[in-house]
Amino acid sequence: MDFEIRIKPSGRSLRAEEGTTLMDALADAGIMIKSPCGGRGICGKCTVKATGRLSPRTGREEGLPDGTRLSCTARISGNAEITVDEVRKAPVFPEVHAGKPGPFAAAIDIGTTSVKISITDLSSGEARPYDFFLNPQRRYGDDVISRIAASAGTDARGALSKLIRRDISASLSGAGIAFKKAVVSGNTAMSYFLLGLDPGPLGRHPYTAPVLDFPSLRASALGMEIPGDPETGVLPSVSAFLGGDLAGGLAVTDAAGYAKNVFYIDMGTNGEMFLRPSSGGIYAASCAMGPALEGMNISCGMTADEGAINHVSIRQGSFAISVIGGGKAAGICGTGLIDATACLIAAGIISRSGSMAKSIAPGSPAGLFISEKGVHLAGDVFISQKDIRNLQLAKGASLAAAEILLEEAGCDPGSISHVFIAGEFGENVDVGNLKRLSFLPDFRNAVYFFLGNTSLRAAEMACLDAGFIGRIGSLRHGIRAVELSSRPGFDEKFLASLDFRAD
Ligand code: FES
Repeated sequence: MDFEIRIKPSGRSLRAEEGTTLMDALADAGIMIKSPCGGRGICGKCTVKATGRLSPRTGREEGLPDGTRLSCTARISGNAEITVDEVRKAPVFPEVHAGKPGPFAAAIDIGTTSVKISITDLSSGEARPYDFFLNPQRRYGDDVISRIAASAGTDARGALSKLIRRDISASLSGAGIAFKKAVVSGNTAMSYFLLGLDPGPLGRHPYTAPVLDFPSLRASALGMEIPGDPETGVLPSVSAFLGGDLAGGLAVTDAAGYAKNVFYIDMGTNGEMFLRPSSGGIYAASCAMGPALEGMNISCGMTADEGAINHVSIRQGSFAISVIGGGKAAGICGTGLIDATACLIAAGIISRSGSMAKSIAPGSPAGLFISEKGVHLAGDVFISQKDIRNLQLAKGASLAAAEILLEEAGCDPGSISHVFIAGEFGENVDVGNLKRLSFLPDFRNAVYFFLGNTSLRAAEMACLDAGFIGRIGSLRHGIRAVELSSRPGFDEKFLASLDFRAD
């Protein structure tokens, strides 16, 4: 059964099914609400004014003023009226580009969890970040496999494509300029969803990607409404689980001259990595890390947004937290989770095998308490035993996959001189804590570099250089893709990789 929803102040009205969250109903009307915790009722950042027939208040909504609801939590149960006073802020057209004649290009990184867009001035070559939003396909599952499974239903497959096209179009329409070119980078499944290709073969044995190179098309031919109707390219994929994002990272580091003794990992919901040993060759693999590092399957997890605990340390016997924006902690993001876990291990509250103590031992750092939910870092923001297990699954997968690549290449980790960590969270992570939690093998002689979002960077480079996509294609042919799921011994190695390091 569906009901009428009136939106104020615009006066527009729409129909929404009973049980739809206000956030989804508004999204269907093209109104995007900021949702740093992924719509799980944790961060409190998605409030709207709403009246009419709505579900009863639950959880965090109980402390909100009358008529104010969390749009991710409140559901339609009859006709309702919503005043949208906290929409996701319209992205700001970068100041450096404002007033310039262009032409302009958009680089779009479609991650499993989030989407990032930058705008490049093609005359100066300058690229600036433009927008960031959570991937709207999350309502069909947190990971690639769940979305591929969901897409088996014909309606869902079309909906998955429509959602991502809609939000990219809405974002770029807000820039107030016309685009001459757009380049998209993403893992293979994300590229397939955008292009409307059947992702089924990516998710079933023998896990093949029937199409690896994608033609450049007008945005309108891809079902997007982007001002200027730009020619839109998609970075080529390597295999079912190694996408244009990995190929882009390879091309970015290769262009900078790093071709040997290099290990690269893009830490996201999928961990994609390659190894270039001194003996030559490129070995690559992908592993499922889950969205823990992006704050998405963590009890109080959120993206690195205002209110997120992003760093934790022990200072003078007390736990010290840093919160983005400096206000009250609303949740915790990936870097905060890594720091907090390392500190809790150092304090003896979490064991090397990941078990959490039931009480705080005398002499433990001040500023913590343990409830039946877990260890509280600040007020209601806590880390549960399950959160630690999810972090272990992420780090176990990346460590096991990296060790297999080393074995496959016959490469000693001591021979690696450069470790590149890509991914949005990488720039702010404490490398000491990353090593302490043993996310990677012991690259004892390597220098670690955090590259930020190389997937987006590759798309930007492709906006500027017409030959860049071709060079990605050539490099890609040298990749030996190591399929982990069918490899004997992977499960044993994964289980052996779950413990935190003992030093
Ligand atoms: S998105 Fe609704 S509380 Fe975080």
